[in-house]
Amino acid sequence: MAEIIIVPSKAEAGALVADEIVRLIRATPDAVLGLATGSTPVPVYEALRSRLEGVDVSRVRGFALDEYVGIDPAHPESYRSVITREVVEPLGLTPELIHTPNGALEGIEHAGEDYEEAILAAGGIDLQILGIGTSGHIGFNEPGSSFASHTRVKTLIEQTRKDNSIYFDSIDDVPMHCITQGLGTILRARHLVLLAFGEGKAAAVAGAVEGPVTASLPGSAIQLHPHATVVVDEAAASQLASADYYRYALANKPAWQGI
Ligand code: F6R
Repeated sequence: MAEIIIVPSKAEAGALVADEIVRLIRATPDAVLGLATGSTPVPVYEALRSRLEGVDVSRVRGFALDEYVGIDPAHPESYRSVITREVVEPLGLTPELIHTPNGALEGIEHAGEDYEEAILAAGGIDLQILGIGTSGHIGFNEPGSSFASHTRVKTLIEQTRKDNSIYFDSIDDVPMHCITQGLGTILRARHLVLLAFGEGKAAAVAGAVEGPVTASLPGSAIQLHPHATVVVDEAAASQLASADYYRYALANKPAWQGI
């Protein structure tokens, strides 16, 4: 199963995951990162700023999980803009090496396949950062998504549009469609790191980690992955039946194991 790490704060989660990313980049200067957007990964990106000072990141490559379909890439809430603003610029990454799925309507029929090919050509993703939606989605793979799915266009459920409306003037401005890495794409990454914070994520986290593996809760796909790490705060961990065991396992973990 995934390793579950319960931390007291978002900042500690960010530091823990950022340390792992720095280790990866030092060992593999052209590492391929899978980049999530939304509020969850922000502490990781913030923690990376000081940690990456003096580290050569010019060859680091990256692939965003998803993008809205039909959104102007220059729109401040397009995931291209978010990744540029929150990751590429503050961390000094090379913009040409950081990719987002192409959500432009023109060519949308083959945009998913193009993205899959680009990920494969890069040699696959080394470390994939994930958040989880209240619906249990990872990427924008809403309930019912195939575990074998690849990057493709999906329709966002109403709850996700509502959750994401905080970034737009109203829910009507949240695009209806997205293009997202599939669950099959995500499962090919070499290391999955899923983060979740707050009470609102507790049910989705418990379902993903301890529930049955089911397309009805896409996050449960991580149970099929040989190297998955779940980093949660106390509130997001509050519905985990085996929380005491996860704490015990962490307290007794050999130092050499890393995450
Ligand atoms: C973002 C993504 C989504 C989010 C999820 C949680 O690229 O693919 O799965 O991780 O919707 O969103 P936040 O972090 O805003 O709660």
